[in-house]
Amino acid sequence: MIELQNVSRLYRSDEIETTALHNINLTIRQGEFVAIMGPSGCGKSTLLNTLGTIDRPTSGAYLFNGVDLAKLSEAKLAQHRARHLGFIFQSFNLVDDLTIYENIELGLLYRQGQKGSRRQAIETAMDRVGIAHRARHFPHQLSGGQQQRAAIARAIVGNPDLILADEPTGNLDTENGAQVMDILKGLNASGATIIMVTHSPSHADQASRRVDILDGQLVASVAQML
Ligand SMILES: Nc1ncnc2c1ncn2[C@@H]1O[C@H](COP(=O)(O)OP(=O)(O)O)[C@@H](O)[C@H]1O
Ligand SMILES: [Mg+2]
Repeated sequence: MIELQNVSRLYRSDEIETTALHNINLTIRQGEFVAIMGPSGCGKSTLLNTLGTIDRPTSGAYLFNGVDLAKLSEAKLAQHRARHLGFIFQSFNLVDDLTIYENIELGLLYRQGQKGSRRQAIETAMDRVGIAHRARHFPHQLSGGQQQRAAIARAIVGNPDLILADEPTGNLDTENGAQVMDILKGLNASGATIIMVTHSPSHADQASRRVDILDGQLVASVAQML
């Protein structure tokens, strides 16, 4: 599904040059659940944002189902994201003055579809994460765990085949973190490929593969028995 070939990402300012990613080679097959680990500042978010086409490699190729995304225009990339990707962040990133239902609807913004089928998709996504009873609430009226589940519903409402999660359990207590992991594993079991950055060894253990990053370089990629 995914192939990164010698991907590097440099950040340049007048004074300094930071190599956030250095010659990353990584292949991810459809249906994998990959956990990315490494110390703060090592390039995990840059890698995830590159996989999500939010960030472009400075050099190297990014093949997605055989297509080199590095060559696509911004408009084509937006189409690619709407069709294939779902994003989950550590800080939920819900819009404060929209209801939970409306927040989840944002996940369909760039997708075509009839109104009726949109409502059906939103209700299915809400049921999937157990948040339907909070549809008319606003984010601040929900607990952190509920907010993250709503954010997951927004990420999956368009049925993405690739879910990218940047420390999705980082702001949650143990119980809510476990709930989020169960939801991610369920999505993976029903076919979604998942790539998750985490600092939690016990959450990384639940993935089918673990990738370790250090100073912008991939230092290990290990399949895990589940
Ligand atoms: N927009 C940016 N401009 C300049 N440097 C950046 C930018 N984003 C990240 N970096 C630098 O790239 C390196 C990797 O950052 P990041 O991918 O956020 O690491 P991680 O997610 O592992 O903590 C860090 O040294 C960081 O300071
Ligand atoms: Mg990060």
